[in-house]
Amino acid sequence: MVMAKVIAHRGGASWVPENTLAAFRWAAEHGCRWVELDISLLGDGTPVIIHDQTLERTTDSQGALADLCLADLERIDAGAWFAPAFAGERIPTLGQLLQLCAELGLGANLELKPDANNVEALVEATAQVLEDAQAVGGPWLFSSFEHEALELMAKRLPSIPRGLLYEGIEDRWRDKAAALGAVSLHLDQELIDPALIGQAKAEGLEVFVYTLNDAARAQSLFAAGLSGLFTDDPLLFDPAWRAGS
Ligand code: G3P
Ligand code: MG
Repeated sequence: MVMAKVIAHRGGASWVPENTLAAFRWAAEHGCRWVELDISLLGDGTPVIIHDQTLERTTDSQGALADLCLADLERIDAGAWFAPAFAGERIPTLGQLLQLCAELGLGANLELKPDANNVEALVEATAQVLEDAQAVGGPWLFSSFEHEALELMAKRLPSIPRGLLYEGIEDRWRDKAAALGAVSLHLDQELIDPALIGQAKAEGLEVFVYTLNDAARAQSLFAAGLSGLFTDDPLLFDPAWRAGS
């Protein structure tokens, strides 16, 4: 099993401001062994943890990540929009995130979120931060909707496993997974055909779905062989599933 059955999506976005250090602390405090997060790039090349390429939805500020540098993070609040108690939370750098995960004993699905113009830069910057962390912490697992990013990462840091992330599946998923050396498929729970779970497992791939906040639906997909799920609300599920299998 490459990850836990229940993985805190963006740290547990129902309970905490997504993709903040407070979120990942909350996940660890609630027994999660694995979290999922999104890596994006600032204009100065710093990899940071945020889902959108703009600030509006998850901070008190506006504008594009492409127009920011590291020093700008000090003035941007990423917690107060969610609840006053989280005021002062910042957009974490990837370095801060890896350090916290190491301290808390968290494994992390590092989802690469390049824009159309920075796939190579995002992969290289991410790889450098992981190398600087000198293999402290983990386990880590990369995923991305941008399969070119996984291809580049497979060459750059081949020892970190990769999961193939899809919205709609494509016919050539077997070939794609083999070419990338992927260990898992990460699929939209609303689009998944349960039969695909068995087909993927027959190929030696684990199957995870996003973003599932429904315990009954989870039961039926686990019965079909699902490996695990990304959820905004880990507390909906058996605590043993947060800790592992
Ligand atoms: O990695 C699973 C899931 O997070 C993918 O979609 O948009 O929430 O990053 P999104
Ligand atoms: Mg994500």
